[in-house]
Amino acid sequence: MNSQSQHTSSDYIHGSSPEEQRRLSLLNELLNQASARELGLRGGERILDVGSGLGQFTRVMARTAGAGGRALGIERDHAQLAEANRLASKAGESELTEFRQGNALDLPLRSDEWGSFDLAHARFLLEHISDPMSVISQMVDAVRPGGRVVVADDDHGDFRPWPEPDGFHGIWQAYVRSYERKGNDPYIGRRLVFLLHEAGLCSIRNTCVFFGGCAGSETFMAVADNLISVLIGAKEDIVSGEFLDEASYFTSIDGLMRWKEDPSSALWYSLCWAEGSVPKDGA
Ligand SMILES: C[S@@+](CC[C@H](N)C(=O)[O-])C[C@H]1O[C@@H](n2cnc3c(N)ncnc32)[C@H](O)[C@@H]1O
Repeated sequence: MNSQSQHTSSDYIHGSSPEEQRRLSLLNELLNQASARELGLRGGERILDVGSGLGQFTRVMARTAGAGGRALGIERDHAQLAEANRLASKAGESELTEFRQGNALDLPLRSDEWGSFDLAHARFLLEHISDPMSVISQMVDAVRPGGRVVVADDDHGDFRPWPEPDGFHGIWQAYVRSYERKGNDPYIGRRLVFLLHEAGLCSIRNTCVFFGGCAGSETFMAVADNLISVLIGAKEDIVSGEFLDEASYFTSIDGLMRWKEDPSSALWYSLCWAEGSVPKDGA
């Protein structure tokens, strides 16, 4: 078994069904502008996007990098790759990026690509990886001295819907435990700076990208739907773990549906975001 196939059994909780791809696409519409603002690209960058999914944000970065730049997306799942290429072609942007099949734990880079990127980026990836430090090490090796590594991820301890939907605590705990059962870290968000520091990066910075909303705001229905769809998509993992029975699962989903329509509802949540630079030689 080669190192590529060792990691291909899926520990990825969300899958790549058409419903999940619709959710991921909507999430991109909600977050991409704010995520791009944090990145602060100047143009001309060579960018590596690890776990690029449907490639929407890879294309946002490529557009900002402009003609002098380049973006390469690495994605393990063939269905995600196919959809990323279809969306790029539909947008007339097939030439803008390259999407390459491969594993974040064993990046499929050519020898002349290692150490050449100005930026290696991964969003919503590390939470699905049992050894996130290995991915960060690969990203560091892909970046030139002085280049940046940017990681943005969930911290499931930070989700606060209010008024608390009926059964929310139970379903959320069961969802979080389903991550842990796969050997992944549902609380990776708070560890991002620690991981960048352990990887030897310097000039580390952290911030949060707001991903909540309240009833009546333009994006509330979309963020509420995102929350509900991850729980619907992960139903088998949630109820198979003996933390929640099926009846309680459906009661909790009903509670969230009522919460979504309540004019006093709010979701307080933000994406954890951190960056660090690869030290220049001798630094
Ligand atoms: C939640 S999606 C995020 C996609 C994209 N980064 C975004 O923010 O829209 C995570 C993606 O990582 C991919 N993935 C999970 N584990 C991976 C691995 N070990 N190597 C490469 N891709 C992986 C999944 O197939 C999925 O497309």
